[in-house]
Amino acid sequence: MPSSPTPTAPRIPRSPGVGASRSLVYVLNRRARRLMTMIKHIVYRLPVLRNAMLPEYRYWVDPGELSTMVGLIDATRGTGGAIVEIGVARGDTSVFLLEHLRTTGDPRPLVLVDTFKGFTQESIDYEVANRQKRAVEISDYSYGSARIFNYSLARLGYTNYRIIKGDCSKVDWKEIGPIGAVFLDVDLYMPTAMTLKALWPLIVPGGGIVLDDCVEPAWCDGALQACREFIDRHGLPFIRAGGKGALLQKPGAEIDAGND
Ligand SMILES: C[S@@+](CC[C@H](N)C(=O)[O-])C[C@H]1O[C@@H](n2cnc3c(N)ncnc32)[C@H](O)[C@@H]1O
Repeated sequence: MPSSPTPTAPRIPRSPGVGASRSLVYVLNRRARRLMTMIKHIVYRLPVLRNAMLPEYRYWVDPGELSTMVGLIDATRGTGGAIVEIGVARGDTSVFLLEHLRTTGDPRPLVLVDTFKGFTQESIDYEVANRQKRAVEISDYSYGSARIFNYSLARLGYTNYRIIKGDCSKVDWKEIGPIGAVFLDVDLYMPTAMTLKALWPLIVPGGGIVLDDCVEPAWCDGALQACREFIDRHGLPFIRAGGKGALLQKPGAEIDAGND
């Protein structure tokens, strides 16, 4: 017995113009791509222009410090402890951390803290009065802007972050809750010492703080002084992270800072 025909959508006759314009678009696309390849080929070989195509290291911090942060983030994923960057400047490291959270499906938001107007006068005065620094040698980050910083992250499609504008020594850290991993990068003695003290009780077991600028002599070696005083007080070892960072980790699951 012949089967009854299955109903199908009525065929709409396509005008011959549609097919022709599709193949025109296809041809134009291919030509544009070939042209771009030719332009790249030429630009890559021209001494002045090729700089635009040459690779660059975008970060102000070492690969070793970034990978230690990755280790802390991964080690504390199950704990729900927050991820924090303190001293964000224009956000190069923030983008690295957000990308790691995105590509590992980590739902925790990144908390980003900065004055967005550089160092506080109080912390500069402390360097001058107590650490034999000259105000002119201290880098100027007063160009910062929370609005542009937010725009720069949002334009890359990130949504899982929270910006706190203000002095990190005065943030109510208890409000953030338990903390898994911190990148602390505010260079000078006062904000580093005060923030280490406030954050440490909130760090979950196995979590920790990667502190940048733990080298001397340098205009920013206040970070190293604060680090040394802190680890002495708490009986912690000095663990190098990368070439200039230090890892302060709460006992728990150990992570590899890549340095023995
Ligand atoms: C070295 S930059 C940070 C670089 C950034 N972590 C990166 O890797 O790209 C230092 C930043 O710390 C910020 N800062 C300085 N003192 C601060 C304070 N007391 N509280 C919050 N942010 C501060 C400055 O505004 C500046 O943006």
